[in-house]
Amino acid sequence: MSKKKEVDDVSGTETTGHEWDGIKELNTPLPRWWVVIFIATIVWAVGYWIVMPAWPLVHGYTHGILNHSQRDTVTANVNALKAARAAREHALDHASLKQIQDNPELLQFAMAEGKSVFGDNCAPCHGDGGQGAHGYPNLNDDVWLWGGKLEDIQHTITVGVRSGAPDTRESQMPAFGRDAILKPGEIEDLTQYVVHLSGRRADAGAMRRGGKLFADNCAACHGPEGRGERKVGAPNLTDNEWLYGGAPENIHDQIWNGHGGVMPTWGGRLTRETIKSLAVYVHSLGGGE
Ligand code: HEC
Ligand code: HEC
Repeated sequence: MSKKKEVDDVSGTETTGHEWDGIKELNTPLPRWWVVIFIATIVWAVGYWIVMPAWPLVHGYTHGILNHSQRDTVTANVNALKAARAAREHALDHASLKQIQDNPELLQFAMAEGKSVFGDNCAPCHGDGGQGAHGYPNLNDDVWLWGGKLEDIQHTITVGVRSGAPDTRESQMPAFGRDAILKPGEIEDLTQYVVHLSGRRADAGAMRRGGKLFADNCAACHGPEGRGERKVGAPNLTDNEWLYGGAPENIHDQIWNGHGGVMPTWGGRLTRETIKSLAVYVHSLGGGE
C-alpha cells in the first residue's frame, strides 16, 4: 500500500504521493514558529485549568489553585471604598452645617455627594441644576417659601412639605373658588389686586375692592402687604417670582383651587449625613442665605 517517500527534485521537499496529470503535491512541513506557538497554547491552557477557575461541574466549578473570583475582588474594592468614605461620613455627621462650609476638605466631599444625590433624587422635580418648574420651586434663586438658611433647607429636606409624614411642613391655602368661600366676582377682584401687588397695572376699581378682600382672607398667611410668611410657606406675592405662574389666569387659578405642592420627606430615606450634604449643596446653588 504505502509507497516509499518521494522527494521533489526542485524544492527538495517530500511529496504527499498525490499526483494529478503529472503535478505532485508537496508535503511542506508547518513552520517551526507556528508549531511552537501551537504547543505553547496547549501548555498554557492546561496550566490555566490548574491555576484558575475553569471547568463547570455538576455543582459549582473547578476553583483552581489561585481560587480567583472577580466577585470577591469587587466586594473587597467596595468595602475598601466604604471604609475610605466612612471616615468622611463620620466627620460630616459630627460637624455642624456651618463647620462643613468652613472646612474646605469636608465642603468638597459634601458638595460632591450632594450633587450626585441631587441628580438621583431631586432633579426629577427640581430640574438638573435646581432651576425648578411649574409648581416646583427654583432652588437657585433667593426666593424661598420655607427659608434659605442652611438649617431651613436641611429641615425642609428632612421633613418634606405636605408629605403626610407626622412632622412634615404643613399649610394649606383654601380653594376659595372651588369650595365657594368667595364669589367668582370677588376672585376676579383679588386677581387684579395680586397683579397690582407684584408691581403691574391693574383695574383700579377691582383693586380697591380686592384690597379689602385681601386683608380679610389672605393677609393671615401672605401678610398684610402680601410679602409672604415662611412659617406657613406662603409665597411673597410682591416679588414677581411665581411658583404657579404670574399671568392673571395663573393667579386666578391658584385663588380658585388653592394648589399645595408636595415635597417628599427624605429623613429615614437618606442618611443624616447625606441630607447635610444636600443642604450644603442646595445652599451653594446661588440663593443660600
Ligand atoms: C416629587 C417631587 C419632589 C422631589 C423628588 C423633591 N422635591 Fe423638593 N420640593 C418639591 C415641591 C413641590 C416643593 C414646594 C413645596 C411647597 O409648595 O411648599 C419643594 C420644595 C423644596 C425646598 C424648599 C424650597 C423653598 O423655597 O423653601 C427645598 C430646599 C427642596 N425642595 C429640596 C429638595 C431636595 C434636596 C430634594 C432631593 C432630596 C427634593 N427637594 C426632592 C417637590 C419635590
Ligand atoms: C392658610 C394660608 C393661606 C391663605 C389664607 C391664603 N394663601 Fe395663598 N398661598 C398659601 C400657600 C402655602 C401658597 C403656596 C402653595 C404651594 O407652595 O404649593 C400660596 C400660594 C398663593 C399664590 C401663588 C403664588 C405663586 O408664587 O405662584 C397666590 C397667587 C396666592 N396664594 C394668593 C392668595 C390669595 C389672593 C389669598 C386670599 C384670597 C390667599 N392666597 C390666601 C397660603 C395661603
